[in-house]
Amino acid sequence: MPSAPAGRIRPEPPPTRDELLGELGRRIGRFDRATARVLRAPGRVNLIGEHTDYNEGLVLPFAIDLEIRIASAPTDDRTVEITRLDTGETAAFALDAIGERRNHWIDYVAGTAWSLQEAGIPLRGARAVIASTLPPSSGLSSSAALELASAWTLARDPEAVDGLRMAQLCQRAENEYVGVQCGLMDQFASAMGRPGAAVLLDCRSLEWRAVPLPLERASLVVVHSGSSRTLDGSAYNARRAQCEEAARVIARRHPQVRALRDVTLAMLEEASGELGAETARRCRHVITENARVLATVEALDRGDLDAVGRLLVESHASLRDDFEVSSADLDALVEIATSVPGVFGARMTGAGFGGCIVALVRPDAADALGAAVRRDYPARSGLEPRVWAVSPVAGAGWLA
Ligand code: GLA
Repeated sequence: MPSAPAGRIRPEPPPTRDELLGELGRRIGRFDRATARVLRAPGRVNLIGEHTDYNEGLVLPFAIDLEIRIASAPTDDRTVEITRLDTGETAAFALDAIGERRNHWIDYVAGTAWSLQEAGIPLRGARAVIASTLPPSSGLSSSAALELASAWTLARDPEAVDGLRMAQLCQRAENEYVGVQCGLMDQFASAMGRPGAAVLLDCRSLEWRAVPLPLERASLVVVHSGSSRTLDGSAYNARRAQCEEAARVIARRHPQVRALRDVTLAMLEEASGELGAETARRCRHVITENARVLATVEALDRGDLDAVGRLLVESHASLRDDFEVSSADLDALVEIATSVPGVFGARMTGAGFGGCIVALVRPDAADALGAAVRRDYPARSGLEPRVWAVSPVAGAGWLA
């Protein structure tokens, strides 16, 4: 089978600033272009370090060139009204009466407004349009991107808040307003991504650094399984609660333990009777995954892509067997991907139970990888994969 042309797996370009401002004008009539804002906020792929962020561990995500864009004109009426350009649907809320979550996409905007106001950050009303090239519920953090784009759209003085702080406020929106007890990784990556690099974040100290990716020797290919990320808040929150309870049990013998971040394999071994086999497996994933993040950064620093690939595959096995958040579809995609010559390694990425895998592949083999999943995956899963060769891009910001 001939491989697909390279262009086929590049993401679609998002609408330009002018196109978005044109759409805004068609919807709201005349507005002052000088005070309008156009924000972009990217999705993310996590290279490695899964389910470690809320255990105060290490993550290595990168922001991707699939993104959300919001064009807005400020208003003085303290209301926020946003139209989705894909469906034409408009949703609104009042900044002074945000109310409870509605189980609707506007919750991510309203929750962000709530969180910023709780932190004393002055907001302004807005009329806005929103466009996205980031598929929702795919594990590529469309919700974090929507939160970050909303935060900078609504802040009266956006220059007064730095990216890391904004990421934390958006995480709070998701934790306390939307009700998902996520860690900081997604919001951090969408806010702080660096072009050509992954970002290594220590989720305890919040120290971070860019880790350049050798893009001339390796492409990053994302494959969507076609099954949306069904890890609803409850399954995710349950994993998190299990990890926190395990840390409390281990801390009875080792008072210095504050989170699974502090637990060694020897401590786990000692406590495994008390924890039970399932919880012990969950802990083993987190402990070994933190070590794999460090090993991946070292392998990238010395340019050893075969080692990076092996670590990705080990991470997948650990998520599948120990943390148990993979799915038959994701496992099939990883198997297909890793059998293609030129693929260094692949793993599920994000929370799991559906969504996407990420593969690290020699640039000249990326099309063959796309062709292999399109050929072999539908028969194994009954689903159509979607394939993108993504690029690591800068975090959220204005479109000049
Ligand atoms: C989701 C959460 C993140 C992180 C990942 C798993 O994406 O939002 O905080 O926990 O799952 O690594």
